[in-house]
Order: sequence, then structure tokens, then C-alpha cells
Amino acid sequence: MLKKTLIAATAITLSAFALTACGSDSDGGDDKASDAGGPITMGFAQVGAESGWRTANTKSIQDSAKDAGVDLKFTDAQGKQENQIQAIRSYIQQKVDVIAFSPVVETGWDAVLQEAKAANIPVILTDRAVDSKDTSLYKTFLGSDFVVEGQKAGQWVVDNAADADVNGDGKINVVQLEGTTGAAPAIDRGEGFADTIKADPSIKVVASQTGDFTRDGGKQVMESFLQSQDGIDVLFAQNDDMGLGAIEAIEAAGLTPGKDIKIITVDAVHDGMQALSDGKINFIVECSPLLGPQLMDVAEKVLAGDKVDPRILTKETTFNQEQATAALPDRQY
Ligand code: AHR
Repeated sequence: MLKKTLIAATAITLSAFALTACGSDSDGGDDKASDAGGPITMGFAQVGAESGWRTANTKSIQDSAKDAGVDLKFTDAQGKQENQIQAIRSYIQQKVDVIAFSPVVETGWDAVLQEAKAANIPVILTDRAVDSKDTSLYKTFLGSDFVVEGQKAGQWVVDNAADADVNGDGKINVVQLEGTTGAAPAIDRGEGFADTIKADPSIKVVASQTGDFTRDGGKQVMESFLQSQDGIDVLFAQNDDMGLGAIEAIEAAGLTPGKDIKIITVDAVHDGMQALSDGKINFIVECSPLLGPQLMDVAEKVLAGDKVDPRILTKETTFNQEQATAALPDRQY
């Protein structure tokens, strides 16, 4: 059983300490850089670069690895599960100390995670969960509660039903832009939203389609919603980028986003917050991409053999127009 002892470089300040590992493998088989007292090596398989959120998440991970002295091997899977699986296999071959990844979709991970487990390489899930019965395949899942995010979005419609009935016919017709099909945030946000709007029978999702979490996807699907659906009152876009793409489609159709169609999104990246402040979006549910510092901290603990919570939740809030305007000057992403 591989056993490591972590030592923090002591000559520098706590906040800028370099993570290192020392000691030798009891099985004598693995020659990892960190065994010789070198930096911890982390293999990170990222989803892709589909959104502003993802860009901020990548930056957070890369910056935090640098600050912590972690040797980060980073792969962009370009939205493809097979690329992520290939990257994880390559990290196993390279005998990294720890693997972290944000799964493109929820299912289909057991085989590769079993390979990591057999190689004694701990896995940390960040941002998105996997759907597996075997929870021993990963040490912890660090990220948001996407069901709660969907519930917060749905609650806004319930609480603002009078305003949300833009067409004034007693029915609130919602169109939904879903994230990537099969991805945890798409499944969970959709579920949280649907459950919450049941509180008011006048609110109905009349059309729902994937925009793949991208701006282009949001624009294209909104164009088709505008052609196929009469009397849209509300758009729920499962991320800011799809909402921003939809705003372009709504404006091109001669309508005023935020007034003729109420818009709710998730993320609270800078462009989304600007649109909220400008009155083009009505409400944003925050989903923080700044997971890097926590990830480095958890990796250190896992490699030190410390117990870590199997579920580490990210703290987040919601924003209305006034709150977005106040938050924008200090927004980090
Ligand atoms: O998994 C988090 C989601 O992925 C974000 O909400 C979305 O913008 C991103 O692409």
C-alpha cells in the first residue's frame, strides 16, 4: 500500500507553501516524483472550454496549483468523455500522485476509476459528480449542489409570478435551455427547477432543449423557441453563456430581454452579471468556479492520509439587479 508523508516547505509563508511528498513505496513498485521529495504531481482532466465559467475554473485550478507548488498536468477534453478517459489513463501510466477531474457526463466512469484505484492513485471529483454505486472509486466530491441551484431558479419564478406573467394571460410559459445532455448540472438543475415550480400550477415548462452550455448553442435554440412557441414569458437558461446567446436571439427578434421575456440564469460570471445589471437578465443563481484552492487543500489532506469529507459543498448566493451592480466592481471572474 502506497503511503506518503507530506511536508510543507517551511522557509516560506503558509499561504504560498509548496506541497511535497516524501517516503518510499512499501510495495517498491511505483517511482513517483514525489517519492523522492519532489512536488506532488496532479493530473487534471478538464471538461473543455465551453463557457466563461469553465475558463474561470481552469484559471483557478492552474493558479492554485502554482501557488501550492503542485506539478499540474492539465488536459482539455474538448467536451468528450473518451478524451477524459484517455487523459486519466495517461495519468495512471505516468504514475501521478493524485488525479482530479470534472466529468463531462455522469455515467460510464467505473472502469477507468477502477484502474486508478488498482494503481493506488486517489481520485478527487471537482465540480461535477459521477453516477456510480461504488463510492470507494473516489475520495471526495468537491463542488456545488446543482439541485439547489435549480430550486433557487424555480423559486424566483414562483415568488415573482405576477411579474413573470409577461403576457398577462394567467399562464407562465417557461422555455428552458438545458446544459450538456447527461451532465450532472443539466440533470440536477432541471430536476430542482421542475420540482419547485410545481408549487404554482400556472407555471409550465413548454419547451426544453440542450444548448450544450455554450453561447452559440443558447442562441440557436432560442431562435427555434421563438419560432415554435407562442407567448413565451420566461427563459430559464441553465448557465449564463446560454442566456447571453439567447439574449442575442431575443434582440434580433425585436423583443426586449428582461422585459418581454424574463430571464433567469446560473453561474454569475462577469458577462452574466453585467447583463443582469443592465436589466437584460432578471435573476442569477451563483455557481462558483473558484474551486482551485480547495482542491489543492483536499489533495494535500488525501495524500497525507487525513480523513476528508466525502462531499464538500461550495458556498454560493443569488443576485438580483441591484446586487449584481454592487458586486460587479469586485467580481473575480
Ligand atoms: O459544471 C458547471 C457548469 O459547467 C457551469 O454552470 C457551466 O457554465 C459549465 O459549462
